[in-house]
Amino acid sequence: MPQSKKPRLQATKAPRESVRILITGGRIQRRIQEIAKQIRKDFPDEPLHLVSVLKGGVFFLTDLARSISGEVSFDFIAVSSYGQNTHSSGQVRLTRDLDSSVEGKTVIVVEDILDTGMTLQYLLRLFEQRKPKHLRVAVLLDKPERRIADVRADYVGFSIPNEFVVGYGLDYAERYRNLRYVGILTLGSDTKKGAAEK
Ligand code: PRP
Repeated sequence: MPQSKKPRLQATKAPRESVRILITGGRIQRRIQEIAKQIRKDFPDEPLHLVSVLKGGVFFLTDLARSISGEVSFDFIAVSSYGQNTHSSGQVRLTRDLDSSVEGKTVIVVEDILDTGMTLQYLLRLFEQRKPKHLRVAVLLDKPERRIADVRADYVGFSIPNEFVVGYGLDYAERYRNLRYVGILTLGSDTKKGAAEK
C-alpha cells in the first residue's frame, strides 16, 4: 500500500468511500501492448526474463508477459519496508527471493508503481550484483513528484499526479487490487482516521 500520500478524506457530502477512474482498463491494455512491442524491438532476439515485485506488480506482469512475442520467462520477488508505512526511510528488505538465478539473463523488473523509488533502488542494487546480461525496468505508473531515490524506469505506462491510486494491483489495506482500471481513492467521512493513516 505505501504511496504515502494519504487518500483524501471527504468531510462534507459523499460520505461513502469512492474511487474515481483515472486510467481506464482499455487504456491500460493498449499501453501494455505498446510497451511490449517496444521491449521486443529493443531486444529482438533475446529470451526475456520478467521479474515482478509482489504483490502489486502481478497483473502488469501477467498482461505484459502475454503481450511480448518470443521467449519470455518470469519470476517473483517480495520486499517490505522496516516498520514504516512509506518507503521514505529507505529501509527496504527482502522477504522472498527469486526462484532462479538472473546471471546472464536479460532481466526486466516489472513494477506497478514507481513512487519514492526506494524499492527500485534496492532491487537494482541487488540484481546488479547478480550479473544479468541486461537490466531494465518497466513500470505501469510513475509518480515523478514523489521521487527520493535517483532511479528511473526504461518503460513507463503512465506518468501520474501525486494522488493515492488503487486498482490494477494497487491496494488500500489489501482492497481494490482486482479493479481493471486505476482510480483515485477518496475515503468516506465515516472512515476512521486511523485507517486512513495506515
Ligand atoms: C508498492 C509498489 C512498489 C513500491 C513503490 O508496493 O508495488 O513495489 O510500493 O514504492 P516506492 O517507489 O516508494 O518504493 P507496496 O509496498 O505497496 O506493496 P504491495 O505491492 O504488496 O502492495
